[in-house]
Amino acid sequence: MSGERVLVVDDEQLIRQYMEAVLEDEGYEVMLAESAAAARAAFGTGTAHAIVLDLKLPDGDGMQLLHEFLEADPDIAILMLSAHGDIGTAVEAIKIGAYHFLEKPPKTEILVTTLAKALEARSLRRTVSGLRRQAGWLLSGVEIVGRSPAMRRVVDFIGKVATSESSTVLIRGESGVGKEVVAQAIHAHSARAANPFLEINCTALPETLLESELFGHERGAFTDARERKRGLLELADRGSVLLDEIGDLPPGAQAKILRFLETRTFKRVGGVQDIAVDVRIIASTNHDLEAAVREGTFRLDLFYRLNVVPLVMPPLRDRPEDVEPLAHFFLEQMTTAMRRPARELPPQTIGLLERYAWPGNVRELRNVIERSVILEEGTAILPEHLPDELQPGARAIDLAPGPALPASGIDLEELEKDLLQQALLRTKGNKTRAAHLLGLTRDTLRYRLEKYRLSGTGTDEGSG
Ligand SMILES: Nc1ncnc2c1ncn2[C@@H]1O[C@H](COP(=O)(O)OP(=O)(O)OP(=O)(O)O)[C@@H](O)[C@H]1O
Ligand SMILES: [Mg+2]
Repeated sequence: MSGERVLVVDDEQLIRQYMEAVLEDEGYEVMLAESAAAARAAFGTGTAHAIVLDLKLPDGDGMQLLHEFLEADPDIAILMLSAHGDIGTAVEAIKIGAYHFLEKPPKTEILVTTLAKALEARSLRRTVSGLRRQAGWLLSGVEIVGRSPAMRRVVDFIGKVATSESSTVLIRGESGVGKEVVAQAIHAHSARAANPFLEINCTALPETLLESELFGHERGAFTDARERKRGLLELADRGSVLLDEIGDLPPGAQAKILRFLETRTFKRVGGVQDIAVDVRIIASTNHDLEAAVREGTFRLDLFYRLNVVPLVMPPLRDRPEDVEPLAHFFLEQMTTAMRRPARELPPQTIGLLERYAWPGNVRELRNVIERSVILEEGTAILPEHLPDELQPGARAIDLAPGPALPASGIDLEELEKDLLQQALLRTKGNKTRAAHLLGLTRDTLRYRLEKYRLSGTGTDEGSG
C-alpha cells in the first residue's frame, strides 16, 4: 500500500529473509544489506525512507552507522535491532535520533506498526523542515526568514563576514528591516559565539553615561563614580559589541571608538592605562551617514573606518516575496506564545500584506500580525482584520505626498506605461502581484499591457 523504501541491515541471512517477506507483504520496497559497507552503499543511493538497523555488524558498529545516516539525512526513520536487549544502548540510540529499538527477532505485528509510526513521524518532520528550508535560513540558532534573492545575498554576506575573525561591520538600512537580527547572526555564526554579544543604543544615553557604559570608568572619574566599573568593551572581550544607531554617537565617543578600531585599545573614563581587548565591532544605522558627515556631525575618518564592509539591508517593500514567509513565521510564533490555536493566512490577506509599502518594515509586519492575533478570534486572519492603512482604499496614504505635476506638464500615458513596466520588473513578471501593486485587477492589468503592447511574458503564478 505504501511504496516506501526500507533498508534492512542485518548480518543474519534468516533475519533478512524474514524481514523482506513481512515488509514486502505490507507493500514496502525492501533493500537488503548484510554488512556496514553494504549498508553505506545502499544508503548512498539516497532512496531509503526508513532503515531497520542491526546494532552489531561484522565490519562495524550500528551506532556509528546511526550517526552517519542521521547526519546525512536528519529526517530518515531508523529502527534499531538488537539480540541482546541492551537497554542502555537502546536509550542511547533513541537519544541520538533512532525512532525506536526492537528486540531480535521482532514480532511481525510490532515491527509493522512501529515502522509505520516511524515513517509517519518522518513525513511530518519533512513537511515542517521542508517549509522552513524554503522560507529562510537558520544560522547557528538565529532564524532569518525570507526567500528573496536580496535576503539570500544578506545571508551569504553573514556567512562570509562571520568567518573573518574580527573585521568591523556596518549594517545600514531603514528602521525595522532586521539589522539587529543580522548582527546577532554574525556573532552567533562566528568563532566568537561562545563569548558575549553586547548591544548598546547610542541614541538612548547622555554622553558621559554612554562613554562610561562603553569604556567603563575609574573610581572618582565623576561624581557618581564610587567604584571602578568595567565597560561593555571589556565585558565583551573575545565577543562582539553592537553599536546600534552609530550615527548618534557623540563626538567624544566617536573619537574614542575610532582610536579603538585603530589600536584595539582604549582607556576607561578617568583612566590613564591602555586596555587591550579582542572585540568585533558591529555598527548599525538607519540614518544617512554621508549626510551626517557633510553636516559635520559624524567624523569622516570614522565613517571610512566603519564603511569597509557595509551591508545594506533592503526595505521590505523592495522584497515582497519575503512578506508571506515572514507573516507565517510571526503568526506561528505568536499563536504558540499566546497558546492560541493555529490560524490561516488566506491568499486575499497575503495579497493585501504584499502590496502595502511597510514604512516600518519587518517590525511593522510583526506588529500587524500580533495585533490581529490578539484582537481577532477565528481560524483565519481575514483582510478585514488588518488595520486601516492596509485596506485597499487607503493606498493614497502610502504614496503621500503624491507626485507633483511639473510646470511643463507630463505625458500621462508614458507615465502609466512606465509604472506598468516598473511593476512587472519588481515582481519579476508576476502579473498577479504586479496588479496588486498597481491596485488593478489582473484583467485590467492585462488589458493595459496589451494596450501599450508591453509583453507580460513572466509567470502567472499565484493566479487561479
Ligand atoms: N528576516 C527576518 N527574519 C525573522 N525576523 C526578522 C527578520 N527581519 C526582522 N525580523 C524581526 O523584526 C523585528 C525588527 O527587526 P530588528 O530589530 O532587527 O530591526 P532593526 O533594523 O534593528 O530596526 P531599528 O532600526 O529600528 O533598530 C524584530 O522582532 C526581528 O526579530
Ligand atoms: Mg535595531
